[in-house]
Amino acid sequence: MNPTLDTIHSLRSIHGGFTDRKVTEEDLATVLTAATRAANSSARQAYSIVVVQDTDRMDTLIGYRASHALVFCADFRRQALLAERLGHRFSNDDVIGFVTATVDTVLAAQTAVIAARSLGIDSLITNGLHRRPLDLVHRELGLPETSVFPLIALMLGYPEDDDQPAGGRLPVEAVVHRETYRDPDDAELDGLVAAYDDPARRLGLSGLWDRREFTHYLDWFFLQWCGEPDPDRVPTGTVKEFQDRLVRSGFWWPER
Ligand SMILES: Cc1cc2nc3c(=O)[nH]c(=O)nc-3n(C[C@H](O)[C@H](O)[C@H](O)COP(=O)(O)O)c2cc1C
Repeated sequence: MNPTLDTIHSLRSIHGGFTDRKVTEEDLATVLTAATRAANSSARQAYSIVVVQDTDRMDTLIGYRASHALVFCADFRRQALLAERLGHRFSNDDVIGFVTATVDTVLAAQTAVIAARSLGIDSLITNGLHRRPLDLVHRELGLPETSVFPLIALMLGYPEDDDQPAGGRLPVEAVVHRETYRDPDDAELDGLVAAYDDPARRLGLSGLWDRREFTHYLDWFFLQWCGEPDPDRVPTGTVKEFQDRLVRSGFWWPER
């Protein structure tokens, strides 16, 4: 191990809550600057980071409280404004552009997580934003209607319970394929089912699975947590709102 690997292997999400202790402006600046060092497609840095310090606002918009919330948004607006400024038209707002901007954005977010941890600051990545009305998020954060989409929030701070262990991970060989993709065979699938069942591996969502009702963790996960898929389903609720927002933002074109 070296200090970089030590930091990466010490990463953990804080589920319980953060204390009132504030991350200093100096540390915050270090984290934000490190985040912008992540690779980005076509040197565009197709993201913006909105820093929220008011804990009540965080709670309303994201559902969590911490020292700071960083809202990472896919963002082509800067590009569009630059193009306009020079009298050009800009046309990267489409679904491929959205995926590319998403990659830029999450690379920056994860780089922020690592930088924060190296400074002794803990974090929680959360998509709590997408469990809220997206219109509210857009309005409250002053996000432009087009070319900007809030993707993920990063809560930063110091945990109330410092003993929280990181979640476990699947064995590396379960997620790595050499040269070509290969489906796991039945024996490997059974091994994974057993791995999820073993509390010591901490692979599942902690504390939610009721062992008395379900034989396997994954029985609970697929039946209760995910719910039965509906083959005729039409987008409703937050899914519909998400899709509508993507269309309004210009990142997704409805079928014509
Ligand atoms: C896209 C994304 C969304 C997440 N949303 C939440 C969330 O809303 N609430 C939460 O407690 N954890 C959330 N997490 C954190 C995961 O639960 C956590 O990474 C996982 O359980 C592994 O634990 P660890 O990070 O401590 O190793 C999210 C992580 C990701 C990548």
